[in-house]
Amino acid sequence: MKRRVIIDCDPGIDDSLALMLALSMEELEVAGVTVVCGNSPVDMGAANAKKVLKYMGRLDIPVFKGAERPLKRGYAGALDTHGSDGLGESFLPEVPGFEQDMTAVDFLAETVRESSCSVIALGPMTNLAQLYQKDPDGFRKIEEIVSMGGNFRSHGNCSPVAEYNYWEDPDGADIVYRAAAEFGKKISMVGLDVTRKIVLTPSLLEYMKRLAPDMGYFVEKITKFYFDFHWHQEHLIGCVINDPLAVAYFVERSLCQGLETYVEVETEGISIGQTVVDSMNFYKKTPNALVLTKTDPVRFFTLFFGRLLGIDESALDLIPALVREVQG
Ligand code: RIB
Ligand code: CA
Repeated sequence: MKRRVIIDCDPGIDDSLALMLALSMEELEVAGVTVVCGNSPVDMGAANAKKVLKYMGRLDIPVFKGAERPLKRGYAGALDTHGSDGLGESFLPEVPGFEQDMTAVDFLAETVRESSCSVIALGPMTNLAQLYQKDPDGFRKIEEIVSMGGNFRSHGNCSPVAEYNYWEDPDGADIVYRAAAEFGKKISMVGLDVTRKIVLTPSLLEYMKRLAPDMGYFVEKITKFYFDFHWHQEHLIGCVINDPLAVAYFVERSLCQGLETYVEVETEGISIGQTVVDSMNFYKKTPNALVLTKTDPVRFFTLFFGRLLGIDESALDLIPALVREVQG
């Protein structure tokens, strides 16, 4: 039985890889893509989503534009990381048409009422927060939320203590975690503690190009800027592909392990955007999150390559050595 999902994202290079993975997973029915301002401004993000859907031959999947700015903060963006086109300066041709009249929030509200549907949130959670504000019952009807965002014991990636998605819109993230607590839900927080283990390296990319040249060269085209960014930013030979792990985890839960706990998001001050993870239960509150802290990069890349390239996993014998090349 396929699980119906909406991919809420800010494409974005790793969002694009995550969308490609989701479209390659027979376990998922992608009902639609909702776009939020984040890595890219929302119009650019929606245009990038269409470019990826066109490459995957899936322009049948509707793309809906959402929030143009965070709930309260000014919009910052991350084109320094994702390139001036938000897609690694691949400058893929624009995809005209396929515009939707409905907003992302209205699509979310309508879709969760039609039938069981989950949301895989890969960007700032502004759209989800606005859904809660406009239609709390609609929010409650979301079957499950898996969010790439936050960090527990890991350092941040846009401040010493904050991860980008929750830093870009801390008020949105805070509203969503409080709403989860209100409705007795647990958000699966696929944060930097696990995603920073998922490093696409030059060797892994070369392997992908050998196994499936068309896909490999496409992935190379949209990630080369991201490789350069990681070298300049942290002298890493490779790039952290955060978002695909959230998609892979949604389908294969054994990929990550963690703890059920109460999470709140700081919305002001020096640690704005930080996820405060009450692992010692100081607040004595019912858990509103499953914070993932461990993952298996070899298993991830085996799944990622197998699904994206359509190759039987038993044939991907080089993955363990290539992954351990960077993990040590
Ligand atoms: O912090 C990483 C997250 O922020 C990823 O989702 C990336 O695409 C950006 O949105
Ligand atoms: Ca993202």
